[in-house]
Amino acid sequence: MRAIVVGGSGQIGGWLLRILAERGHEAVGTYQSVPYLDLVLVDASRLEESAAWLRELRPDVVFYPAGFTWVDGCERDPTRALSANLEQPLNLARVAADLGARFVYFSTDYVFDGLAGPYDELSATNAVSVYGRSKLDAEHALTRELGDSAIVVRTSWVFGPERQGKNFAYQLVKALGQGRTLDCPSDQLSSPSYGPDVARAVVLLVEAGYSGLIHVAGPGVIDRVEFARSLAVAFSLEPDGIVGRTTAELGQGAPRPLHGGLLTPRLDAILPGVMRPLDHSLADFVARIAGGEGWAIPEK
Ligand SMILES: NC(=O)c1ccc[n+]([C@@H]2O[C@H](COP(=O)([O-])OP(=O)(O)OC[C@H]3O[C@@H](n4cnc5c(N)ncnc54)[C@H](OP(=O)(O)O)[C@@H]3O)[C@@H](O)[C@H]2O)c1
Repeated sequence: MRAIVVGGSGQIGGWLLRILAERGHEAVGTYQSVPYLDLVLVDASRLEESAAWLRELRPDVVFYPAGFTWVDGCERDPTRALSANLEQPLNLARVAADLGARFVYFSTDYVFDGLAGPYDELSATNAVSVYGRSKLDAEHALTRELGDSAIVVRTSWVFGPERQGKNFAYQLVKALGQGRTLDCPSDQLSSPSYGPDVARAVVLLVEAGYSGLIHVAGPGVIDRVEFARSLAVAFSLEPDGIVGRTTAELGQGAPRPLHGGLLTPRLDAILPGVMRPLDHSLADFVARIAGGEGWAIPEK
């Protein structure tokens, strides 16, 4: 298939591009502010320009692992959040629909309130943050407008090797490696999801013709301190610098769902075992880093 990955410079986008290439698909990836030589500059906030670009490429499928992903930033700037997480993807989704292409949107367990997680695809949503609401609005709009050609993938706590080195695992390993401490919310629970597995699962779902809502997340729900400790152990780092704090103590800018996390009954029925358990994912992560993959920002 001929694929576009809007947000190819991001964590999930980078893995989508790799998996698509490995599986013999033709794929074009984009960046917005962090340039890479193998990617094309596309700013989805330039609605007409990005729509015209997409129309010209005539893809079979558009993956959209892009948007305003900084949860506290969304809380501060709801207009930007709605624009980046709802209006911009919807603009390109409409073009995809005109072209007869499928559109894959990435959402989050932050569409839930975190009072009774983990959640499956039939659980009632109730976002508590601007970020979560913008994602939920997009889920509804895409499903309403695109019907069967939309795939909405909810994921959570994505980690693993990535070009930009931004995810929680990098922050933690850098902090502990430099002898610094890192405050971690001890009362926030979710499902750590290994980026390469998320991307692989989503590509396989598209190949299988899946449409609709699906949770793609790692098996198991843990709190952030436990996750941090597992990362520290995997990277042979002393976990003493991990400081557990309650969400109330941390005073993060946006409210968080506390008992979040995603159950994956639909994924398990279609692709059993595609999301590796945390210990296997961590072993793969460490091996890739040891092999020189993912720490530096190459080709800039
Ligand atoms: N990471 C997680 O734990 C997690 C959990 C649940 C859901 N999700 C969702 O999954 C998706 C991917 O997450 P991620 O962690 O891979 O995100 P990420 O690493 O922050 O990447 C975001 C991507 O969006 C691009 N982008 C930003 N503004 C853009 C614009 N105006 N036009 C075009 N592209 C733009 C960025 O490009 P530049 O970097 O070049 O600016 C980057 O490639 C997001 O929609 C996120 O909400 C992620």
